[in-house]
Amino acid sequence: MSILIENIKELIQVEKNPELYVSGRKMAELSTIKDAWLYIENGLISDFGSMEELNRSDYTIKNDIEVIDATGKMVFPSFADSHTHLVYPASREIEYMDKIAGLSYEEIAKRGGGILNSARLMQDADEDELFESSMKRLDEIIRYGTGAVEIKSGYGLTVDSELKMLRVIKRLKEISPLTIKSTFLGAHSIPMEYRGNQSGYVDIVINEMLPEVAEDNLADYIDVFCDRGFFTVEDTERILEAGMKYNIRGKIHANELDYSGGIQVGVKYNALSVDHLEFTGKEEIEALLDSKTMPTVLPGAAFFLGMKYSPVREMMDAGLPVALASDFNPGSSPSGNMQLIVSMASILYKMLPAEAINATTINSAYAMGVSNILGSITVGKKANLFITKEIPTYEYMPYYYGTNKVETVILNGEIYM
Ligand code: NIG
Ligand code: FE
Repeated sequence: MSILIENIKELIQVEKNPELYVSGRKMAELSTIKDAWLYIENGLISDFGSMEELNRSDYTIKNDIEVIDATGKMVFPSFADSHTHLVYPASREIEYMDKIAGLSYEEIAKRGGGILNSARLMQDADEDELFESSMKRLDEIIRYGTGAVEIKSGYGLTVDSELKMLRVIKRLKEISPLTIKSTFLGAHSIPMEYRGNQSGYVDIVINEMLPEVAEDNLADYIDVFCDRGFFTVEDTERILEAGMKYNIRGKIHANELDYSGGIQVGVKYNALSVDHLEFTGKEEIEALLDSKTMPTVLPGAAFFLGMKYSPVREMMDAGLPVALASDFNPGSSPSGNMQLIVSMASILYKMLPAEAINATTINSAYAMGVSNILGSITVGKKANLFITKEIPTYEYMPYYYGTNKVETVILNGEIYM
């Protein structure tokens, strides 16, 4: 089937000469075409332009074409959500009561709550049920405009449970219309029985989990929670080195709780991204410059946990790119709504709408290794995009926060809703 969308009020994030990401000042530039059309064929963006130049009959004589009139509406490339933990056994709102009462994320974790709470439930979780509940979450994020998502393991923390999570992600990849990347996060938390013998647990991750993960091709990336109270720089180095032996690149949880060295070790091992970054100073920015590692900020987690906000403006002023992702998970960010992330970017981080849109499309696509095929309106890229409801400007996207501005979703060139 092919689709012609015409009378588009504004076609957003048009890239004729595609870049893999945009950095620094360029993040404030967003190329658009007003009064535009877009043609989709064989699942790909085939052509687009301004209505003045459209020769309608070139397309409408074709059989099996659907014509969509988008008068008053805009077309955006789908969001790429490059950091989630959306396969999980149960929500954790009861534990959240402790947070409301004043306990910190770290205090809850120390008591065996947090990630270990999810890991306990994961041991007995039924694989089919995990798959079904995750499919529902994918349906939810698709309706908010996400077209690509990275999903991590990390609520297993035993060989069997980690493999179970990764098999679920593999099934999601096969069934869902979303573009999905999977990340092995065996080093998400130190199980109670390894407290005091942390390197013993790292041995299990490297020698028992990783070989099986690699053998069954279950992970595109490898992650470590490199932060105060979790894994050290030395642990992280060992794990990233082990990943390199299998050609699995890092995507690191870093500097959420302290200046942990996580950013520097990520860059040293050419991680695809370092994520969270609340504790980012001059040294960290220096390390990131001239690297191929995407600094990725997770506004949902900082907002939900009441943390300090990452110095995004300083990072962009220094010339760095910034990506934004949801961190969708039951403990620190129970939402995968990327429109809300765009709003938080502007409201909390003072990012311009154009910067927030670049950070959630092309840059976050880079942070999950798919910006060559997604993340902008470019001929030959996958037709993962959405048509908005009638909106006055693209700046309205962050401004009118809290409601769904998406009306029609197209994934792989097919109408999803
Ligand atoms: O990215 N920071 C570490 N891990 C997750 C939280 C996972 C959880 O609490 O369940 C995060 O925020
Ligand atoms: Fe995370």
